[in-house]
Amino acid sequence: MLTIARDLLKRNSSPAFFGHARSLWRLSRFYGRLSKWYWSFFAGHTIASFFVKKTPKIQSFPRGQASELVTKLQRINVFAPTAMCRVMTGYGSDKGRGWHNYTTIYSVLFGKFRGAPLRILELGLGTDNPSLASSMGENGKPGASLRGWRKLFPRGLVYGADIDRDILFREDRIETFYCDQCDSQAIRQLWSQPALREEMDIIIDDGLHTFEGNISFLESSLEHVRPGGIYVVEDIVREALDNWRDVLETQYTKRFPGYEFALLELPNEANPWDNNLRRRLD
Ligand SMILES: C[S@@+](CC[C@H](N)C(=O)[O-])C[C@H]1O[C@@H](n2cnc3c(N)ncnc32)[C@H](O)[C@@H]1O
Repeated sequence: MLTIARDLLKRNSSPAFFGHARSLWRLSRFYGRLSKWYWSFFAGHTIASFFVKKTPKIQSFPRGQASELVTKLQRINVFAPTAMCRVMTGYGSDKGRGWHNYTTIYSVLFGKFRGAPLRILELGLGTDNPSLASSMGENGKPGASLRGWRKLFPRGLVYGADIDRDILFREDRIETFYCDQCDSQAIRQLWSQPALREEMDIIIDDGLHTFEGNISFLESSLEHVRPGGIYVVEDIVREALDNWRDVLETQYTKRFPGYEFALLELPNEANPWDNNLRRRLD
């Protein structure tokens, strides 16, 4: 029914009018989703968070030298939704307060970048092709989190990369590229793109979610984070936590002596499996 109405409008109006109507429609859907989530989840959890406090379990590397920022992250109530959670959920990303609650951490971790002309790259656009690994399913919204970052960082340039060429797109302040994170040549090609030559303030790996894939992307991408920047790996499954502890302790702290690495396990009543992050600061 909606498709018929859209086709009718497209045929009988100017391209400019159709463009405006489509933007309005998208905006109303965004706010529709947001208000539904707001009332069913956000408001309830915000009130409940006055009584319920859940904090992340954090291990920092080198051990025993946690920075002020890590100490601050340790005190975050990850049960309490933030404005960043609202935005991400509104665009259809699962980073917000629900299946994951990463945005409770990002609200503090990325706080210093608010309003700055930052550069952020996220691996993993959120394919809606169910036959691909780490798909968001048929109802997925490719580019959801990139649009969220654009909204949250009004002066930021947002870049994305994904193995699914069908969902790559370009919009105002967003540019996306092909990359297979398991293929070192593809990663080198990604970083050779003229738009990506300047260092990033934030890199997020929300792609394949395997330990090998994470390490492969990290190995060729860490050098593209500028000093003071942040590199995050999302969705670390519990089974991979020991591998991460091991490589961080025995390899990365030695290879990158000026850096701080931290492993965060976020309690989440909806997801006890892969709600863990690894982040690096220097
Ligand atoms: C969980 S989704 C990303 C969700 C999105 N960041 C969001 O928050 O809305 C994971 C994405 O990783 C992509 N992916 C899977 N394997 C990959 C690989 N080897 N290299 C790069 N991207 C991959 C999938 O195509 C999918 O789009």
